[in-house]
Amino acid sequence: MPVFEMSDANFPVDAEGRTYHVECRRGDIANRVVTVGDPQRAKLMAKKFDKILLERSSHRGFLIITGIYKDVPITVVSIGMGLSMMDFFVRETRAVVDGPMSIVRFGSCGSICDAKPGNIIVCTSSYGIMRNYDHFTNPFKKAESPYLITDRVQADPTLTLSLSTKLKNSMGKDSVFEGSNGCADSFYGSQGRLGSNFVDENDNLIPTLKKKYSDAVSLEMEAHMLYHLAAVSKDAQSGEQSIKATCALIVFADRTGNEFITPEASQIAVEHCTEAIFNTLVEESFKGSSLHPVEGSV
Ligand code: URA
Repeated sequence: MPVFEMSDANFPVDAEGRTYHVECRRGDIANRVVTVGDPQRAKLMAKKFDKILLERSSHRGFLIITGIYKDVPITVVSIGMGLSMMDFFVRETRAVVDGPMSIVRFGSCGSICDAKPGNIIVCTSSYGIMRNYDHFTNPFKKAESPYLITDRVQADPTLTLSLSTKLKNSMGKDSVFEGSNGCADSFYGSQGRLGSNFVDENDNLIPTLKKKYSDAVSLEMEAHMLYHLAAVSKDAQSGEQSIKATCALIVFADRTGNEFITPEASQIAVEHCTEAIFNTLVEESFKGSSLHPVEGSV
């Protein structure tokens, strides 16, 4: 196992300035970023780059691919799954990029609307769904609800409209859905999946979500952290929000019809969506780019 000598327990970086989990340093990450869950999806998307500048896997499961598309640097980062991985990714890339960032998540989800496996859901907003741990283990808190559902946080409206329009042009408008995403702290209990090995009290969770948010369309595990961190991001000098974010999700699971996507359909969706996503980012205008890929790191 590699030994990482890090300095600074508050925000660990190695001797070459690489962050602890994502292993990115200044010059590695473009201002325009796509984040995916699956490293194979990242590699498939990177095939559309005209040139690859950097490809690097971290010891904690992140894969960074930075390349040039239509003369513009774009970085694709695969992060695995879950809120913590999204938190590592956003904070550590933000720390090494100068200037504003636009981030598009291109992930997977379960559909709780009419969208079927292989369709795309663009998340206009996201809310968190967290297991209320005390409800299950503290008899005095049994009266509390078993799941905590947060308020919604909006995606960046301009970036979202641009992405959704391009995806509809490329996939056909009947294959692209929009609405609010429920971002859960588990694939199972807090997404309303039923099982007999644990007490989850989640039989009524999906109807509860739909009652609270009439535009509820999808369930996954990362978007709310992205939207939340974008909303609270701030430029150190101006104090202005420094990250814009939006999200397109491939429907992997139809939670109503109980169907799951095939590997072929997933690959087709990636092939249809990649250029729409890259073109959305290319149209983002920034004053400058912080990208100076480090020689020899490709
Ligand atoms: N990802 C999730 O978190 N849930 C699903 O149902 C499918 C993909």
